[in-house]
Amino acid sequence: MRVLVTGGAGFIGSHFVRHLVGKGEDVVVLDKLTYAGNRANLDGVEHDFLEGDIADPAAVARAGKGCDAIVNFAAETHVDRSILGPAEFILTDVLGAQVLLDYARHNEKRLVHVSTDEVYGDIPLGAPGCTEDAPIRTSSPYSASKAGGELQVLAYVRTFGVDALITRGANTYGPRQYPEKFLPLFITNAFDGLPLPVYGDGKQRREWLHVADHCDGIELALRGGAAGEAYNISGQERENIEVVRRILDLTQASPDLVRHVEDRPGHDRRYAVDSSKLRGLGWAPQHSFDAGGLEETVAWYGENREWWEPIKSGEYKRYYESQYAARLA
Ligand code: NAD
Ligand code: TYD
Repeated sequence: MRVLVTGGAGFIGSHFVRHLVGKGEDVVVLDKLTYAGNRANLDGVEHDFLEGDIADPAAVARAGKGCDAIVNFAAETHVDRSILGPAEFILTDVLGAQVLLDYARHNEKRLVHVSTDEVYGDIPLGAPGCTEDAPIRTSSPYSASKAGGELQVLAYVRTFGVDALITRGANTYGPRQYPEKFLPLFITNAFDGLPLPVYGDGKQRREWLHVADHCDGIELALRGGAAGEAYNISGQERENIEVVRRILDLTQASPDLVRHVEDRPGHDRRYAVDSSKLRGLGWAPQHSFDAGGLEETVAWYGENREWWEPIKSGEYKRYYESQYAARLA
């Protein structure tokens, strides 16, 4: 099978490319190489690569030629950046998704749209993880744009009969995640003795999903999922501040680095999803956050400074200033 992986130079996309190539599949990557895209993430993996925008029909047509299916990872992905500037999120996460759907429609390709558990919004403390039929109730411009892409998928399935489906993964962790997100930001700051900016009381809860388990789930959906369906991919639920304590232990950094700063506007307190439906397709996660998963991830950042140190200059510095300077002042 030849698969078009859009956003394949980013965090999860690059793991997915490795995953498919490791199983003998043929992969072409289409990636715009935004600040989050990094060709080095694909070093040593055999693949074809095209630099381009998923919102550009000509680029999608070039990349899609000869492929059997599309898996769309390409997105603007960071909630805090969506609060600083939402427009880019609409262009890629909504319009880009629609351009890919048009391509899938006219060329009869299967499309897996990689989405997020954030589309459900806050899940009340103590409530069970929500199933796929729970209402979409987005809080941030990021999750709203992801939901916009999802709704286009459902519309194309219903109106044009496109063979498309959705995955909704939990917060994902592992090597090569851009250090704006919580875990790599806190791990790398802890290594450098920099402040760890905990939003608000730090009692927000997220489910942590290892990137390899996320890729397994997406592959199962690609091979066995039904058109028009969504599949949750859950992780292990932990309170943010508990995770920060574990990072301090693993990096042997001082607890004095922890700073409770002004909260993120609209911050969801808790995400929790039920992935029985994906388990029905055979999904069985192999990684435990507490028994090895987080520890191995911290070790990877410790051993691969040459990957993240160059990122933390230039564009990243400007972003960091605008997001944290006032909060940490
Ligand atoms: P990332 O930010 O690390 O990478 C995104 C990639 O998409 C980059 O390589 C970037 O260059 C590329 N890209 C951005 N705009 C593009 C465009 N217009 N055309 C082509 N390429 C473009 O993202 P990630 O964390 O790997 O997330 C991948 C997908 O998984 C996203 O759709 C995200 O919403 C979803 N997701 C992420 C998480 C998570 O915790 N990281 C959890 C659930 C779902
Ligand atoms: P993040 O990685 O941005 O993912 P999400 O899309 O779930 O918001 O953040 C994960 C959690 O960590 C979330 O509750 C916000 C919190 N957080 C902080 O407390 N400080 C930070 O600097 C960042 C980036 C996140």
